[in-house]
Amino acid sequence: MKQIIVEGQHKLKGTIKICGAKNSAVALLPAAILSDGIVKIDNVPNVSDIDALSEILEYLGAKVKRDGELIEIDSSTIINKEIPESKAKKLRASYYFMGALLGRYKKAELYFPGGCSIGPRPINLHLKGLEALGAKIIEKDNKFTLEAEELKGTRIYLDIASVGATINIMFAAVKAKGTTVIENAAKEPEIVNIATFLNNMGAKISGAGTSSITIEGVEVLGSAFTEVIPDRIEAGTYILAGALIGEELKIDNIIPSHLESLTSKLKEMNVKMTIGIDYIIVSSSNNLRSSSIKTLGYPGFPTDLQQPITALFTQANGNSIVEETIYENRFLNVEYLNKMGADIKIDSNKLYIKGPTKLVGKEVIATDLRAGACLILAGLVAEGKTTVKEVEHILRGYENIVGKLNNVGAKLTIEEY
Ligand code: EPU
Repeated sequence: MKQIIVEGQHKLKGTIKICGAKNSAVALLPAAILSDGIVKIDNVPNVSDIDALSEILEYLGAKVKRDGELIEIDSSTIINKEIPESKAKKLRASYYFMGALLGRYKKAELYFPGGCSIGPRPINLHLKGLEALGAKIIEKDNKFTLEAEELKGTRIYLDIASVGATINIMFAAVKAKGTTVIENAAKEPEIVNIATFLNNMGAKISGAGTSSITIEGVEVLGSAFTEVIPDRIEAGTYILAGALIGEELKIDNIIPSHLESLTSKLKEMNVKMTIGIDYIIVSSSNNLRSSSIKTLGYPGFPTDLQQPITALFTQANGNSIVEETIYENRFLNVEYLNKMGADIKIDSNKLYIKGPTKLVGKEVIATDLRAGACLILAGLVAEGKTTVKEVEHILRGYENIVGKLNNVGAKLTIEEY
C-alpha cells in the first residue's frame, strides 16, 4: 500500500495544469466499443481508473495504444465475453460496458461494479433504462446478463438525474431502432463531452447538457476523435488548495464556467481570485468568511467537491454547514479532520463546522477518493506532518498529485508501507 506524507504550511505559488476529466474519460473509453472504426481520445488523464478500463478493453480483445495523453482504440477485434468480477470491481465505471456492449452486440455480461465506498450506489436506473430499450436482464450472484433481440427507441424518465444511467442509456440508444428520449437526464459537462464523441462517430444525439436528451438510433458508428474536457473536480481541488494556502496560485487549462458553483461560493467567503478565459489565479485570505453548501447535480455544487471544501470551512471564521444530498455516506473524512483539530459535528446528512481551528498533522486514512483529497488539503495547512494512508484511492482520480503540488512549493512524498 502507499502513503503520502504532507509537510504542512508551505505556500503554494506557480501554475498547476489541469488534466482531462476522469469522469468523462472513464465513459469515453468504453464508448469506443460502439465504433466500427478506430477512435482517438486525447487529453486522457494518467490515473489508475483509466489503466483498469484499458485492461478490460484489452481483455475483451480491443487494441489499445497509449502515447502520453492520447489513446487510440481499435475495437474491431473484440470478442464479446463475460467481464469477470476481479476486473469489474476495480472501478465504478465498469458499468459503462453494459450499455456499450449491449449497443454493439445486443449482449453484455458483467459483474456489479466497484468504486468508492460512499454509501449505497444502486444501478437500478441504468437497468430500468436498458430494459425499456428492449434488454432482458438476469441478475444472479452479483452478475448481470443483458440481452436484446432488438433495441427499440423509447421514452425514458429517470427518477434521479443519474450521470451513469444517462450515459449508459445513450450508449445503447445510439444503436437502437428509432428515437429515444431521456427525460430528467443528468446535465453534467461530462455528458456533453460523451454525446459529442458519439456524434463525431455518426450518432444523432441532441439536447445533451439539458434535462431532455433525444437520440435517433443509427446502424453504424465509425472512426472519430475527441478530447477529454478539463477535470472540473481536479481543478476545484487545487483552487481550494490555493484558497487555503496559495499565493497567486494559477490553476490552468480549465473551463471556468464549469466551476461557477465553487467560485461563487469562494467569492462569498472572501477568497481572492482572478478568473481568466481558461485559468483562475487564487490566493488565500486571512479573513475567510464561513459559508454553507448543499450538493446537487450540475450546475449545483458537486458532491465530488463536498469533502475538499470541508477542509476550507475548518479555516473560515464562524459556522459553516455542509449538506450532502447525493450520497449517504460521504463523510468518512470528518473523523480524520477532527483528529487533526477540526471541530465538525455530523447530524444525518449535514455537517456543522466551527472555524477557524488550527490543524495539526496526524496519521489519517484516505477512505475514498475525495476524502483523500480533503485530507491532503488539510495537510497542506496543518502544522507538522500529515501521513495519509491508503492513497491508492487518491491515485485512481488525481494524476500525479504529489508532483503537481510539489511543483508549486508544497512538500509531499509518496512511499510504500
Ligand atoms: N442512483 C440510483 N440508481 C441508479 C443510479 C444512481 O439510485 O441507478 C443514485 C445514486 O445512488 C446517487 C445518485 O443517484 O445517490 C447520483 O448518482 P449518479 O448515478 O449520478 O452517480 P454515478 O454516475 O454513479 C458519477 C461519478 C461520481 C460522481 C457522480 C455525481 C463516475 C464514474 N462517477 O457517479 O464520481 O460523484 O457521478 O456527479 O463518473 C468521484 O469522482 O469521486 C465520484 C464518486
